[in-house]
Amino acid sequence: MAKDDMQELYDRVLFSHQDIVDATKEVARKIENDYAGKNPLVIGALKGAVFFMTDLLKEASLLCEIDFIDVSSYGNSTTSSGKIRIDKDVQRDLTGRDILIVEDIVDTGYTLKFMKDLFLERGAKSVKCAVLLDKEARRATDIKADYIGRACPDEFVVGYGLDFAGKYRNVDFIGVPKDKYIKELG
Ligand code: PRP
Repeated sequence: MAKDDMQELYDRVLFSHQDIVDATKEVARKIENDYAGKNPLVIGALKGAVFFMTDLLKEASLLCEIDFIDVSSYGNSTTSSGKIRIDKDVQRDLTGRDILIVEDIVDTGYTLKFMKDLFLERGAKSVKCAVLLDKEARRATDIKADYIGRACPDEFVVGYGLDFAGKYRNVDFIGVPKDKYIKELG
């Protein structure tokens, strides 16, 4: 699909590709400074964080290792229930490691809180989080990411990892989808 056709799927763009590149560079500068000499284990939360994580780690001058976890909330499908289950666990031993979780978005914060608590229980030395978008208006926990790319308005956003019905993830910008596509896909 041509780039212009992808744009057509959106009502409006909130974060352009250049804006995402700039935000990624800003976060990369902070983490390469804070984690210099620490060999952090960077854990991506599947699937949405994959795009931000790969761009962030390619941008950062940082010796690190990577792993992935896939967690999802269950219970009520329309509002986040706060009940989280592990669909795919990390493979590495976390004991004594400095962990950097990478997320595409923090919304209620239930997912991030679950992962932070889990990794600390497993003996991690430290657990921090880098997130591209922080939707603070929706927060239902007291959790806060340590590195934030951009503040996100309280709107339904898709693109660059963020999906609707599994689609839109591979778009290189983020915005609000047109209602008609949401109805078609939903
Ligand atoms: C999204 C996002 C975060 C979580 C944030 O993941 O990637 O992991 O929701 O929401 P919260 O702060 O309310 O917990 P999702 O479960 O949609 O999975 P995905 O990454 O595979 O899209």
